[in-house]
Formats: sequence, C-alpha cells, structure tokens
Amino acid sequence: MLFRQLFDKTSSTYTYLLASRRGGEALIIDPVFEHTARYLKLLEELDLKLVKVVDTHVHADHVTAMGALRDATRCVTVMGEQSPAEVVSMRVSDNDPLTIEGIKLTALHTPGHTSESYSFLMDDRVFTGDTLLIRGTGRTDFQNGDPYDQYHSLFDRLLKLPDQTLVYPAHDYKGDTVSTIYEEKTFNPRLQVNSADAYAEIMNNLKLDNPAMMDVAIPENLKVGLKLDAQRRVPAVDVDELLKSWPSIDAQLVDIREEGERRRHGVIPGSLHAPYGHFDQYCGASGSLAGIAKSTRVLLYCAVGERSTLAVEIANELGLKNVAHIPGGFKAWQAAGGKVEKLN
Ligand SMILES: [Fe+2]
Repeated sequence: MLFRQLFDKTSSTYTYLLASRRGGEALIIDPVFEHTARYLKLLEELDLKLVKVVDTHVHADHVTAMGALRDATRCVTVMGEQSPAEVVSMRVSDNDPLTIEGIKLTALHTPGHTSESYSFLMDDRVFTGDTLLIRGTGRTDFQNGDPYDQYHSLFDRLLKLPDQTLVYPAHDYKGDTVSTIYEEKTFNPRLQVNSADAYAEIMNNLKLDNPAMMDVAIPENLKVGLKLDAQRRVPAVDVDELLKSWPSIDAQLVDIREEGERRRHGVIPGSLHAPYGHFDQYCGASGSLAGIAKSTRVLLYCAVGERSTLAVEIANELGLKNVAHIPGGFKAWQAAGGKVEKLN
C-alpha cells in the first residue's frame, strides 16, 4: 500500500494520500488548497490516478483543495450527507463503504466538532478528522459543534475500536504524527472523564480565539462544488423539460452513480448504468454508450450534476457528441417529483 501523510504548516493540517499500488487509483483526505500543485506532482511521480477526494468536514482553518483537484483530475468529491457544502459529487452516510481500487474505507459519522464531521476507518487505522486529535479533541464551539455529540462520537464510536488501531488526525499543533486508540484512551487529558457533562464542562471552558482563516475558509469551502451555472457549460436537459414529456423522452437515460448510491436512493426508471469510475470505457469505440449514441441522445445523470458535467466532457473528448446531462442530477429529479424506481 502507498500511504503518505502530508503537512500544511500554516494550519497544521495533515492530508493523507492512499493507494493500493503504483500505477493504480488514489484517494486523498483533507487536502489544502495551497498545496494543490504539490499533490498533483506527487500523484504524477507515483503514477497514480486520483479518483476520490474526501473532506472529513467543512474546515474553518484552511480552504479545501477538493474543487481544484476535481478541476485538475475530474476526481469525485466526497463528504458526509449532513455536509452543508452546496455541491459535493458523492455523499456518504454512517457505515457506508468508500472504495477505490484495492482499498476500502468505512465512513463513521462522528459529529461534535461540527455536526457533519466524519471519520474514516481503514483496516488498522482510522482517520479521525478533528473529532479525535493526539492528546486533544477538536473544538466544539462553532459550526454546529456540540460537546455532548462529540462525547458520544468519542466514547461510543472511536474509543470502541481495537486498542491497537492507529489514529491519524486532521491536525497536530505539536508535531506528533500518529497515535493509537489505546494511547488516547489512556493519556488524552480530555478523555479522562466519566460523563458527558464532565466532558462538556471541559469543552465549554476552552476560551479559544476563532481560527484566523475562518471568515475566508468556511464560505469558500461551502461553495466548492460545480453549481448549476457551471453544470450548464455542457449540453444539458433540465428536469422540468424532461418531466413535461415523461415518460416518452427522446433520449436514453444513463445513471453514472456507484452501485451503492443506486441501491440506497433508487434510480430514474428506464436508466442504464455506466459508473463514472470507468466511464471512459463505455465511450470508446467498442463501448456500449458509443453504440447507443449513434441512434439516440444519451442523457447522463449522477447525484447532483457534478460528475455528469465532467462525464459529458469526457464523452466529448472521446468523440461522443450526442451526449447531454441533467443539471442537479437525481436530487433535482426527486425534488421535482420525478418517478423513482427502487432496486432490489
Ligand atoms: Fe475543523
């Protein structure tokens, strides 16, 4: 496995790069905007294809590189379903798997630092975001933070992991790089409490200044996605237009979400499936979409319209011209009252 822990000095943020092999797919957790070029160079050096980028929560102390990495590599942006960020390609819920080639993470909803904070568990290690830090915990005094939620996220979730589980946090201000669940249970001063009230008492009396970047970082991080305007830079058919003639539409619908998302949320009836992760294979000369596009228009959709925008661009570059997408994706379809079919 390839594993890199990268550091941002300004905000003391750790960014993690994961891949199962050289030449394979990669995933990045909590990237910092200023280091976008460094990440891209490292990906190139290790011959990796970035396919997913994850933020554990909406950061207040740095601007995320999720948008910049998506624009550079067309990777999928991922956050928790509770995230207030406007457009994120793919949202995960508690206990959802998050996979790339050869690597599986499990999403753990661990609110407290923010209401939408997630940790990600992978075999022998857990990426704890700002929920559990080394000999510390993330502050709970803004962004819907709540010390009681955090107490439960810590004591009922993270500290229940096996003692030897490695702890990789999103920050360290002292230069520590890794810990274990056992060490934090035993030596983390904030965790030597025997009730949620006692924990809240500590957290409510920290009297911390707001992070220097907060007024810049939070608004930037909320609007990281490709909004509807940007989604219309490629040929698009709006949900309203589609519903006017539904179900007799003059196109073949193609769902490009992952199987897990389809099973959880359902699909638009009559859709074929061509997952975004291998979308180029469907567009090549012998690909199934290339054949369909010869006789009818191909209409792509994903969860919120971000991946499908990028997919139309991929299709066009591979010579497939008869392709459009649905801005706002499945979410817009559902919001407009479009019919949804559940998969068994
Ligand atoms: Fe944070």
